[in-house]
Amino acid sequence: MNQQKRDDLSGQVMVVTGAGRGIGREIAESAALAGARVAILEVDPNTLSETVTHIKSLGGDVIGYPMDLGVEKDVIATIAAVAKDFGRIDVLVNNAMVHESEDLLHTTLEMWERSLRITLTAGFLCIREVLPGMIARGAGNIINIGTVNAKAMLGSDSYSIAKAGIHAMTRSVAVRYGPQGIRCNTVVPGTIATSAWQSRADRNPKVFEDLKPWYPLGRVGRPKDIAEAVLFLASDKSEWMSGSELVVDGGLLAGPAPMFRTVEGSD
Ligand SMILES: NC(=O)c1ccc[n+]([C@@H]2O[C@H](COP(=O)([O-])OP(=O)(O)OC[C@H]3O[C@@H](n4cnc5c(N)ncnc54)[C@H](O)[C@@H]3O)[C@@H](O)[C@H]2O)c1
Repeated sequence: MNQQKRDDLSGQVMVVTGAGRGIGREIAESAALAGARVAILEVDPNTLSETVTHIKSLGGDVIGYPMDLGVEKDVIATIAAVAKDFGRIDVLVNNAMVHESEDLLHTTLEMWERSLRITLTAGFLCIREVLPGMIARGAGNIINIGTVNAKAMLGSDSYSIAKAGIHAMTRSVAVRYGPQGIRCNTVVPGTIATSAWQSRADRNPKVFEDLKPWYPLGRVGRPKDIAEAVLFLASDKSEWMSGSELVVDGGLLAGPAPMFRTVEGSD
């Protein structure tokens, strides 16, 4: 393990969905460097194997599981395989998503159902499958990756609606299973520059530049910004946090950034 290693998550078994690339990959790598034993669930075998090789090269303890979160029997079999391979699951990070549509008027039923199946239902299935082991041990930690789109209308309709379900699921799990030692929180990212933005960046190569004025801290986010929040929620430092939404958005949701100057007449 290299010198960046931190001990916050020593020995913890963490499952990260959709960690072949982007934010999930950063979470998996950071957790491994913090001492966690990491299971990556990913549908793309190429990004999965590249990420596993990379984390192993850093000395991390990681296994990749190629699977499709949209298929119930895949989820059941994979969670069972992780529990067998690692002995238990301490932390589940529901990170995978698909980003399907921009506008309800142009959303087909197929796109809508795919959004819900991967972005929302897969999270439910993973939670349902990890909970029995966590309840049996009287301890477990579930971290759902939400979005600012679940808090304010920012486009990407079917995706945002599915994510609002994720935010509600956090509250259900936190309240219902808290007495059995389960914590559940949502991380709420603003815009993070990842490959998920590729088609929008192809349409507008300046998209991240154009979004900057909405961010009081003057930039869009990086995967590391989200990984740090996930590591905090996964660690004992947040042991009394459950059911919460940890907003990591450069100030976006604090207010419509350019508006106050117009209100004050100072623009
Ligand atoms: N990028 C942003 O601006 C942003 C903003 C807010 C929230 N988020 C959230 O952060 C998380 C990660 O986003 P990202 O930008 O890294 O996305 P991404 O598209 O780069 O990564 C998503 C990963 O999920 C995997 N995946 C998709 N369908 C799957 C399936 N059926 N089975 C298994 N794996 C599957 C993909 O292959 C990919 O590796 C998501 O929950 C997203 O909603 C992202």
